[in-house]
Amino acid sequence: MPKKLYIRTFGCQMNEYDSDKMADVLAASDQLTPTDRPEDADVILFNTCSVREKAQERVFHDLGRVRALKAERPDLIIGVGGCVASQEGPAIVARAPFVDVVFGPQTLHRLPQMIRARRESGVPQVDVSFPEIEKFDHLPPPRVDGAAAFVSIMEGCSKYCSFCVVPYTRGEEVSRPLDDVLMEVADLADQGVREVTLLGQNVNGWRGLGSDGAPLDFAALVEYVAAVPGIERIRYTTSHPKEMSQRLIDVYAREPKLVSQLHLPVQSGSDRVLAAMKRGYTALEYKSIVRRLRAARPDLSLTSDFIVGFPGETDADFAATMKLVDSVRFDGAFSFLYSARPGTPAAELPDPVPHAVAQARLEALQSALDAHYRAYSDAMVGTTQRVLVTGHATKDARELAARTDNNRVVNFAGGAALIGRYVDVTITRAFPHSLRGEAVTA
Ligand code: SAM
Ligand code: F3S
Repeated sequence: MPKKLYIRTFGCQMNEYDSDKMADVLAASDQLTPTDRPEDADVILFNTCSVREKAQERVFHDLGRVRALKAERPDLIIGVGGCVASQEGPAIVARAPFVDVVFGPQTLHRLPQMIRARRESGVPQVDVSFPEIEKFDHLPPPRVDGAAAFVSIMEGCSKYCSFCVVPYTRGEEVSRPLDDVLMEVADLADQGVREVTLLGQNVNGWRGLGSDGAPLDFAALVEYVAAVPGIERIRYTTSHPKEMSQRLIDVYAREPKLVSQLHLPVQSGSDRVLAAMKRGYTALEYKSIVRRLRAARPDLSLTSDFIVGFPGETDADFAATMKLVDSVRFDGAFSFLYSARPGTPAAELPDPVPHAVAQARLEALQSALDAHYRAYSDAMVGTTQRVLVTGHATKDARELAARTDNNRVVNFAGGAALIGRYVDVTITRAFPHSLRGEAVTA
């Protein structure tokens, strides 16, 4: 019987990506095959997130649930990876002694050796170090599933926003060399991938060197990726407003392969709060970036992240956030209640916002964001969109589901042969969570 691997992933797209890599590494080293059922698994991994307190608590709760499995089958390996692992290290084994391996985002490629060492020594293994970017040299070639794939182009973050744990859990920004990225993209394209999402905490902070040794920025990288034969669409996430250079904005004007969608976290519309968050821009500077982006690409859909209830946030600060939302007209956003993270500078700030006040602000913000999202969907009715067909529709298997540039699901009538292909679809109706369309027949 082939041995089985169960992975539970918390948190961001970086973690989703890392979980796929864990599966690749263990498939190559130990022929482990994935399962959705922890009770069938020989190895259970939790890929954790510590960006907000809630996500962190869920890990220990879920760990408690697999403890019984370990009691029944002492051979079972239980591992904890990701950002909680990175922050807590050996404290995880102290709190949950049935955990066998603890590894960080930068040491997941060492999983096979760590599991072997655990089996041979009987002692739990902990390695949450940051060995630069060695990880990528030790990963098997990417597996392809469909026409879209993620490519990690950098690790970590050096922005040190005052509220955020990421620089401590994932380490400082390290860019992957140009040739590595391009070879991975070319390899994916050879396997049928048409759309790549360049991934990292601050992808537009990517820096590299050309073959002549000249320094390259993210704008240059996008153009190199666009030139890889077979690649039709390029996305990237996440980007930082501070690194949204005019050179990158200009790429929107001339490179149609770069999709008309951008996630550009703003966090707040108040300059006072932005300064306390150490974001490095003002609301006006953010709006100026948006104006220039829309001049380069008029139909650009913008999404964002917001934090409400940051220490010291007043009604006037929050009003400034609402004003920014109305003037920018985001096409959706994630909004979070501020969560104090141990070890971050903001955790030391006075003036916490009372929970009820923060909650009321969050609700007001979310309803404004929802209204803009719906207006955006309504405005798409009657337009023709180039969509990537992802599979059969969930509600009616005789129909197809596809994804627009701005991440809307469109259902439309069509044959299975279109799966994995780009199709032009005219949008005929907008629903709260999806769109309906008709394929354009040339
Ligand atoms: N690299 C991204 C950027 O450019 O800002 C952010 C990465 S962070 C993992 C994702 C989002 O989580 C942030 O944009 C922020 O809105 C939210 N976040 C981070 N720390 C937080 C905290 N302590 N409390 C609440 N939300 C937080
Ligand atoms: Fe976190 Fe700010 Fe970096 S939100 S991931 S420190 S850009």
